[in-house]
Order: sequence, then C-alpha cells, then structure tokens
Amino acid sequence: MITQGIPGPKALELISRDDVVVSPSYPRGYPFVMDHGRGVEVWDVDGNRYLDFAAGIAVNSTGHSHPKVVEAIQEQAKKFIHISSDFYHQPWIELSEKLDEIAPFKELAVTFLTNSGTESVEAAIKLARYHTKRSQLIGFLGGFHGRTMGAVSLTASKSHYHRGFFPLLGGVIHVPYPNPYRPILHMQDGEDVGDSIIRYMEEEVLGKLVPAEDVAAILIEPIQGEGGYIVPSKNFFSTLRNLCDRHGILLIVDEVQSGMGRTGKWWAIENFGVEPDIVCSAKGIASGMPLGAMIARRSIVTWKKGAHGNTYGGNPISCVAALATLDLLQNEYLENARKMGDHAIQQLLKLKDKHPSIGEARGIGLMLGIEFVKDRTKKTPDDELRDRVVDRAFTQGLLTLGCGKSVIRISPPLCITRSELDEGISILDEAISFAEDKC
Ligand SMILES: Cc1ncc(COP(=O)(O)O)c(C=O)c1O
Repeated sequence: MITQGIPGPKALELISRDDVVVSPSYPRGYPFVMDHGRGVEVWDVDGNRYLDFAAGIAVNSTGHSHPKVVEAIQEQAKKFIHISSDFYHQPWIELSEKLDEIAPFKELAVTFLTNSGTESVEAAIKLARYHTKRSQLIGFLGGFHGRTMGAVSLTASKSHYHRGFFPLLGGVIHVPYPNPYRPILHMQDGEDVGDSIIRYMEEEVLGKLVPAEDVAAILIEPIQGEGGYIVPSKNFFSTLRNLCDRHGILLIVDEVQSGMGRTGKWWAIENFGVEPDIVCSAKGIASGMPLGAMIARRSIVTWKKGAHGNTYGGNPISCVAALATLDLLQNEYLENARKMGDHAIQQLLKLKDKHPSIGEARGIGLMLGIEFVKDRTKKTPDDELRDRVVDRAFTQGLLTLGCGKSVIRISPPLCITRSELDEGISILDEAISFAEDKC
C-alpha cells in the first residue's frame, strides 16, 4: 500500500547522501530505499509497502528474513563469525555434503565455496583450464556471468560491461544462444534453433577458429537471466552435451540465477535432462547472505593444495543460512515454485492476449519473463514501454526488474502465495495498460 509520495522525503534525503559517497557504477533502477521486509513484502523508509517480484535479483529465495534463516544466523553469530579457509568447521562440511546430495550429476560432487556468483564462475574457469590443460573457452551471446575479469570476459549481454576494461581475458569465443523467439542464425531444412547453433559451433568455430582439443570448457546459463529470461529450445542441451563428450570439452552451467529451486527443480539444467561437469551457484543459495559455490565432479577436481583459495570461503554464517535455506526449499518451496510458476505463466499468457505490446511471455517455474515489442510481427523491442511499465509498477507498489533489451523479469521469492502473485500481476496489468496509453 502506498501511503507516502514515491520517493518519499526520507528516501530522497538518503539518495542525495548516497549520490555523494557511493560508487556511481551501480545500475540503480528506481528510487526504492529499503527499510525492512518479510516474506514477499517489503517496506521503504517512508512506510510504503510493496510486493517484491525481484527478490534482490532472484536472491531472497525463502523471502525476506525468513525466521528459520534468521535464527540460524543468530545462533551461529553467537558461536563464531569467521575462522578463515585455513581451518575446518562443521557447517561448511555439512553444506558441501548437502550440495553433493543435490548436484545435478551422479558422480560425487566436490564444492569450492565462494562469496558471489562471479567468484564461482572465476573458480570454474580456473578449474577447467587447470584440469584440461587447455586454454580456450566458449560462451554465449547474451550471457551474463559476473564482473570480475574472467567472468566479465565471458559475459556478453551488453557491451557496456566491457567498455573501458579492455583487454579482457584471452581465449574467449562467443556463439549465439539458442533463443527460439529471436534466432540469430539461419536454420536449414529440418533444423531448430538449437541445431543451427551446434552446426555453427562445429563447422565455423571448431572448424575454422579453434581446434576442439584446445577448448577447455563451454560455459552456459541453462536459462539466460540478464540476457532476457530466455529458455533454450528443448533438445539443445543434449546435443551440446554430445558435442562436449565427442571433444573432451567440459560443460559448465552457470546456475547463479536459474538454480536453487527457481524453476521448481534444484537446477534449471534438470529441466533438460543433461548432466553438466561443473555448476556455478550463488544468489538464492543462502537467502541473501553472500555465498556462492563451484560444484564439480570429483574426477575433474584435480587441482593441488594452494592452487585456488579465498579468505572468506565457507563463512560459517553464510553456511548455516544456506543449510536453513536448502531445508526450506526441499520441504516447501521447490514444490511451491512449481505450483505458483504454473499459475503465474497462465496469468501472464492472459496478459499477452490482452496487451498487444507483449511479444512473448515465457519461463519455467518462478523464472518468468515478459518481452515487450513495438509490433508482434517484426518483434521490434520496445524498451521505452518496458521502462514505463517498471516505473509505473513501482509507484503502484510492485518491485520488478528489467532484463534483456525489453523484458521484465518476474523472479519473486519462492515462498510466494497465490494471492500475492495475483495481486502483483494485477498491478502489472494496470501498469502495462498505463504504459500502452502513454504511447
Ligand atoms: C547467471 C549469473 N551469473 C553470474 C552472476 C554474477 O553474480 P554476482 O553478482 O553475485 O557476482 C549473475 C548475477 O546477476 C548471474 O545472473
């Protein structure tokens, strides 16, 4: 419920102080200044209440300040807050055992804990090069993997992530992502979008640019996040796995955004029936405590003592928050993400029938996107309209985030109820009508 003007006086005052001392590089969307949150609801410093369909970029998987997560953090903080990765502790070991239990491959999983998504990707790149003794890496256009030097070199969702930072990591090649709505490559008779990309990789990339025996790994998001919440064509991953197997290339899936139950399964790759070699995780893993994980098959974790490490890896507070989170996901919210996801996509498809500006509504579980276009035949992206929808929704009490060129992502906490979903979608409905009227 909006009781004060947005942004209210307290928000304005804090933002003016932030402008002076906080790095201007952060991509702030709109002037939401958080005071507190509970579940799917958040309140700003002026007392306005919002529904959160963004979950801190798909991070607050169990909602804001779930009592069980808060209790785990409090209990651990009383015992010890840090000991460093030079020593051992129980929550770290238990979490690694749990990640082995849920890893999307049969082989034993070995985990390297990190502090963020980008650091998980960085660890995966280093392990892939170390183990294979190969240097080249293949990523996908539209992919987002983080902002440290290795991860940002694989990132290709917007060129501004690279502006001012060249030279990037050497040995990185990008190929088109299998986007069924906007295929980049020409498809030959009988091919789908995924087949055309595998053919391009075999014939053009491995045939003309880099020999397969120099490629260490292929890094891919099972569902592209920043790139626009894009779900690949159905059989793409099995053909990609086959290509990797034929050439001894490792398959790394970046599940930083798509994993941890967001699609109603632990990992988005499980929707495609394929086992990767390495999984990068972060975001939803610890309900908002900074934690990431690089989870790999035992047989490829061949690096030796001292090859890779970090000071905060396995932070005990983050580990207990993750254990509480995984417990909640397993017992309640994976199932809820499936059910609420099915309901939400039905509602979004109804919005698509009603609003001509919607080109496509898509997604799996609670990783859903609405793509706005100027007209449905030409599919010209309408980013201005998308921005108006996001801004209007905010002033009406709904937090959303854009992604891709003209997409709104819907990635609420996985504990969302049906009535919260319906409330948020009706705000979106009104916001889209409002934005369309302003054309
Ligand atoms: C798929 C994916 N990989 C990596 C990252 C980077 O994670 P972090 O911002 O925690 O470094 C993100 C962040 O949005 C992401 O969506």
